[in-house]
Amino acid sequence: MKKPSNPFITAGYQGARYFCDREIETKSLLQNMTNGLSTTLIAIRRIGKTGLIRHVLAKLPAGYTSVYIDILPTENMNEFLNVLASAVINSIPQRTGPGKMIMDLIKSLRPVITYDPLTGIPQVTIDVRKGEAPKHIDSIFKYLEKFPKKIVIAIDEFQQILEYPEKNTDAWLRSSIQTLKNVTFIFSGSRQHLMDDLFSDPSRPFYRSTSLLNIGKINPEKYSAFIIRHFKNNGIKIEKEIVAEMLEWTDIHTYYVQLLCNKVFAESGNQVTSRTWRMEANRLLEEQELLFLKYRDLLTKQQWRLLKAIAREGQVYSPSSKDFVSKYSLGSPATVLRSLEALLKKQMIYSDYDKDKRVFYKVYDLLLRRWLEEQYQLT
Ligand SMILES: Nc1ncnc2c1ncn2[C@@H]1O[C@H](COP(=O)(O)OP(=O)(O)OP(=O)(O)O)[C@@H](O)[C@H]1O
Ligand SMILES: [Mg+2]
Repeated sequence: MKKPSNPFITAGYQGARYFCDREIETKSLLQNMTNGLSTTLIAIRRIGKTGLIRHVLAKLPAGYTSVYIDILPTENMNEFLNVLASAVINSIPQRTGPGKMIMDLIKSLRPVITYDPLTGIPQVTIDVRKGEAPKHIDSIFKYLEKFPKKIVIAIDEFQQILEYPEKNTDAWLRSSIQTLKNVTFIFSGSRQHLMDDLFSDPSRPFYRSTSLLNIGKINPEKYSAFIIRHFKNNGIKIEKEIVAEMLEWTDIHTYYVQLLCNKVFAESGNQVTSRTWRMEANRLLEEQELLFLKYRDLLTKQQWRLLKAIAREGQVYSPSSKDFVSKYSLGSPATVLRSLEALLKKQMIYSDYDKDKRVFYKVYDLLLRRWLEEQYQLT
């Protein structure tokens, strides 16, 4: 892989050198894959699910081939088929007999092949008759089953299948893949309650069918060492205490840590000080300000008030408790619960469990949270 000009990657995956830790998760995913066990990754947004999948796929032992698909942009089974077929023709070598058979199968569906103008990667568009997409997806899986190498199919943003107009897509998919032995899956998703519904609800087809892996935050000591190493390798001095401040500000939320480090790296001379990183952090907030003001217009007054209060607290355990409601003049507990529901649905906040298994709520977007805090200090 080409060396990136900035060691703090904010999109995609650029190899193990720029990827911090996740050793336990990587090991357990690899172990599942090599033992024929499918895995479900569930975590909040921007914590590093896609990065981890890429990292693991890059580390698969010889004798394995992987197919990665992101189904977020798909809206129905036909589009799922297109994304799958594109990934298959781009990942499976076609010179060998079995690879050629898969290619022939896809060709028999009369695909239109276009090339991405930027990357040159071929994209397949197949227009199948209504209701026939599942049959063709099924055939692709069956062909992959016969492939001489073991196959790992990673389906990112898996919760998207619940948005398809076709009914019971999870039941159909489960039955289509449950007999496969040569193919294992990684299902990954972020809309937490939807993914939980799919995999932890006893009435759903995927219930207990895979091994569940939760991804939390990266260990702060390891992240700190990683950050210091990359600055140092480029001749930039940074003290441990400064990194600790940056990790605190970004709440060790992977994407925001990467983003802040990326900006600081780009702007710093030969030393990072408190002042330099705070300037970059402020700049990030300023860049987003118009968007944040738009959110304010889109939310009701009560929702906005609650959002501000949650931002101000950082982490809230009982948003409808008397103390919290009166501290921030939020009206009645019933109003708060309604707003809470709306903010969760809009993914402005998320809920999770702390280490004592207590539910808490937090503002989803770290930059919005920090911006709201500042607003609070101004009023
Ligand atoms: N272990 C890691 N070390 C360094 N950077 C990482 C690591 N994991 C992820 N990243 C970077 O953090 C950013 C967010 O990660 P990623 O896109 O994998 O998160 P995600 O959970 O898939 O997010 P989303 O929910 O938006 O799909 C990316 O820029 C990625 O390169
Ligand atoms: Mg992702």
